[in-house]
Amino acid sequence: MEILKNRDDKLKEIKEEVLKCQKCLLYKSRNYPVIGEGNHKTKIMFIGEAPGAQEDKTGRPFCGAAGKILDELLKSVNIKRENVYISNILKCKPPNNRDPQKEEIEACCSYLERQIKIIKPEIICPLGRYSMQFLMEKFGLENEIEPIGKIHGKVFKTKTVLPGIFLIPLYHPATVTYNLNMKEILKKDFKILEKFKY
Ligand code: URA
Ligand code: SF4
Repeated sequence: MEILKNRDDKLKEIKEEVLKCQKCLLYKSRNYPVIGEGNHKTKIMFIGEAPGAQEDKTGRPFCGAAGKILDELLKSVNIKRENVYISNILKCKPPNNRDPQKEEIEACCSYLERQIKIIKPEIICPLGRYSMQFLMEKFGLENEIEPIGKIHGKVFKTKTVLPGIFLIPLYHPATVTYNLNMKEILKKDFKILEKFKY
């Protein structure tokens, strides 16, 4: 119980820091930062890129169109959203949904790193290629980076920071909104999470 309390407190500290954060210019245009939410004792973390318009309005990750697809994918493998933890690399929305910039990722990524170290999941699923690239580099898998089309759904084992965690790159759920075929591919990839008997 003591450990659990500690974990909650440490995540709350991050939340308070992010609410005041001005480490990159995105703080100027954001409405609400999106810190992350879910089970602090989870075995699975999903890491997206950055908040979109809907997330910026509510402060909640994956609550718009991509979130609906993520919910459907979780349901397809009987995983409850409240049993996982969902966060992003960037905590503030980039203007006009543009791609995250290198300096923004550098400024923001320590929050995510701390979240991962506090939660210590067994499985990390990067959603989309930015998250995949960032997390594979972070965890000592830089030599195994290939296009997401080639390594989505593949299971890697982290080598540094927190060694021994399974890292499974997945396509970003938003890809389904412009290519319906992606849903079946994502569903197939999600099946691997069932094998971990979460
Ligand atoms: N896309 C993301 O990468 N993250 C969100 O929270 C929402 C959409
Ligand atoms: Fe701070 Fe990250 Fe928001 Fe930039 S994106 S202001 S680094 S919380």
